[in-house]
Amino acid sequence: MKILLTGGAGYIGSHTCIALIEAGFEPVVLDNFSNSNPVVLDRLARILGRQVTLERGDVLDTPWLEQVLRRHRPMGVVHFAGDKAVGESVTNPLKYFHNNIGGAISLLQAMTRVAADGGEMGTPALVFSSSATVYGDPASVPITEDFPRSHTNTYGHTKLVIEDMLEAMQRSAPHWRIGVLRYFNPVGAHPSGLIGEDPNGTPNNLMPYVAQVAVGQRPYLNIYGGDYPTRDGTGVRDYIHVQDLAAGHVAALQRLLDSGRSFTVNLGTGTGSSVLEVVRAFEKASGRAVPYQIVPRRAGDVAECFANPALAKELLGWHAQLSLEDMCIDAWRWQSANPNGYRSDEAA
Ligand code: WQD
Repeated sequence: MKILLTGGAGYIGSHTCIALIEAGFEPVVLDNFSNSNPVVLDRLARILGRQVTLERGDVLDTPWLEQVLRRHRPMGVVHFAGDKAVGESVTNPLKYFHNNIGGAISLLQAMTRVAADGGEMGTPALVFSSSATVYGDPASVPITEDFPRSHTNTYGHTKLVIEDMLEAMQRSAPHWRIGVLRYFNPVGAHPSGLIGEDPNGTPNNLMPYVAQVAVGQRPYLNIYGGDYPTRDGTGVRDYIHVQDLAAGHVAALQRLLDSGRSFTVNLGTGTGSSVLEVVRAFEKASGRAVPYQIVPRRAGDVAECFANPALAKELLGWHAQLSLEDMCIDAWRWQSANPNGYRSDEAA
């Protein structure tokens, strides 16, 4: 059973690719490598002992996308493709509106045209990679799916608009099966240490930055704010192992294909960890010091954000199983084996 993964060579996509094959699906990776590395396909082949099918191109190329859908006739599509740097989205909003919303429109157009062929393609199944950022600055925690949505940056705005588009699609085509997954903070790496998070340039996110300090690539971590109303004054987030997140995608697809009922769920652990707790966990996992200095808060950050994951448990029979320690151990294995991410292979 083929599943098309747009942006499948990316961080979440590549881990989901492995989980899908282990669950008996046949993933087809679609990627233009604008924000990922072709080396990932080689690494996937090493982990799996087999090649993964690649379709190289841009989701914005609707005619090509339609050809890919007709060529592979996937039973489902997981839409990962898009840009995700919060800071960049604020300084370059048009890139995000074009790539993220335009990409989703192109995919929905291509799927609609192919669905008109009827047959098994007549009832599309789509999983969308959304984000907890659609909750903006939550009034309280833990967060449930019925919380109000808002956006504090253009990246989050695009995720919110795409969710609205999917709701409109669902109303116009009730036979579509749509699963919206709101990720909290994905971290960690596949236990092989062969694939992991490979940010371009200076990491925006905490875990890859901490890993680069631990491996000696950066002198210290800047902790954005030590005066939040949290247990130790630093920001609290719901870090979820990318392996758990990948398993959540498999469970989401299985629910869509088995039940035909659409849903929107949080994919988080339900546990919040502070920045200082992450630093201490990473020092324990790596055996390395992670020097830091506390600096003023980062614009747009919220004090606390973590999930109530009960609905995903109820609907998908899924819950996160890996701990913050597991996340740090696996992130450290990836970082220490690949100090320059996938770029070390490029040189080879
Ligand atoms: C986590 C905590 C920072 C870096 C973002 C996106 C979200 C999702 C995950 C895509 C906060 C602190 C961070 C650093 C720090 N991405 N921090 N020093 O902001 O919760 O969420 O990434 O879906 O959409 O908004 O994640 O890792 O940037 O920050 O102190 O160098 O670490 O203040 O408390 P965030 P993050």
